[in-house]
Amino acid sequence: MSTIELTPPKKGINGTIEVPGDKSISHRAVIFSGLAEGTSKISNFLTGEDCMRTVQAFRQMGVTIEQNDDELIVHGKGIRSLSEPVAPINFGNSGTTARLMSGVLAGLPLFSTAFGDESLSKRPMDRVVVPLRDMGAKISGRKNGGLLPLSFDGSRLKGTTHELQVRSAQVKSSLLLAGMLAEGETKVIEAGTTRNHTEMLMPQYGIDLEVDGRMITIKGEQQPKAADLRVPGDISSAAFFIVGAAITPGSKLTIRNVGLNVTRNGIVQVMKLMGANITTTVHTHIGDEPVGDIHVESSTLNAISIEGDMIPNVIDEIPILALAATQAEGTTEIKDAKELRFKETDRIKAVAENLRKLGVKVEEREDGLQIKGRASLSGGTLQSFGDHRIGMMGAIASLISENVISIQDKECINISYPSFFNDLNKVLL
Ligand code: S3P
Repeated sequence: MSTIELTPPKKGINGTIEVPGDKSISHRAVIFSGLAEGTSKISNFLTGEDCMRTVQAFRQMGVTIEQNDDELIVHGKGIRSLSEPVAPINFGNSGTTARLMSGVLAGLPLFSTAFGDESLSKRPMDRVVVPLRDMGAKISGRKNGGLLPLSFDGSRLKGTTHELQVRSAQVKSSLLLAGMLAEGETKVIEAGTTRNHTEMLMPQYGIDLEVDGRMITIKGEQQPKAADLRVPGDISSAAFFIVGAAITPGSKLTIRNVGLNVTRNGIVQVMKLMGANITTTVHTHIGDEPVGDIHVESSTLNAISIEGDMIPNVIDEIPILALAATQAEGTTEIKDAKELRFKETDRIKAVAENLRKLGVKVEEREDGLQIKGRASLSGGTLQSFGDHRIGMMGAIASLISENVISIQDKECINISYPSFFNDLNKVLL
């Protein structure tokens, strides 16, 4: 674990960058390709540690996956040819691998076990285990399957109707994957909109499903087909540079080829509501996913309330939005975001603690934060808490801090954005 010291640059961030491939789409692309029959190519794949956990899971089930930089060639042999993993599967720090692969492992005719790192071992798994058991899944685990490690005695699942209580794309996707493997039809009724990459990608891999408002219906016993896919840039990674450019005087930045799916572009909408000078231009589509450029210039921001239906669309962007709030005129309220307490770390606590260290007045609430702007940020040593997004928030804070900011355990940023510091250096030139 090493610490990085970041000296405030005293100027804006400028130029044009491209961020790595989308994390959510990269996971799903490997899963569909790994289950498919035939050879699939995934380009601009996010090679961060989280997505490599999903790659490793399929390798352990006998799928040959070649990697050349950010391109993967997946030699799928079809669902029936997957083999029983000899060793336990390590989900590492990856909640998406854990939840989505649980849906897959529960429905494959093989026995498997899986574990995670210290952080993932504390994160709730009952949100997928309970509805999967309703489909007939045989899952055992710590705290009656509420926590990793888990074991899956893969069995024939039965299509079921699920009315989701928790608003989570991971839970929805896990159940759709299980539904695809099950006997009969599965319906998932969402509590509210969440990112829809699974629904958008499934047809590209020849999987039939029907979306009707909040209800998604999938037929069982479907065999995905191989496909080639280029992963758009990750808007959740772009978010750090969007906020960095908006809050650092003298900035003009373009981020190219970013996924602008409406269930993910909340960061742009929220920053615009705060008065940020941002334009987006969609120039292509990958399947149904819109892809385009984001241009941001520094501007004065005003405080707003971020709550309700806005939250699922910015769930991964709250830490960096909290930093934006420190530079907004007035008091920003973030509400209805209790899910943040179940992320890689308790992000409400981690954000409050780090912003306070920088001299910001922050109130922690059970489901959010109250942040007083416009604060001048001191410097100091910030903990990443092993959480990539908390680490990157601290690094972006150094663009406007009065003194050096040190970030402990900078390696955790490799989970979603291995080239983060290279890209940051590029725009500081
Ligand atoms: C993800 C869904 C979100 C998000 C996570 C990725 C996905 O989690 O926070 O980073 O790829 O489906 P929840 O489903 O728990 O909200």
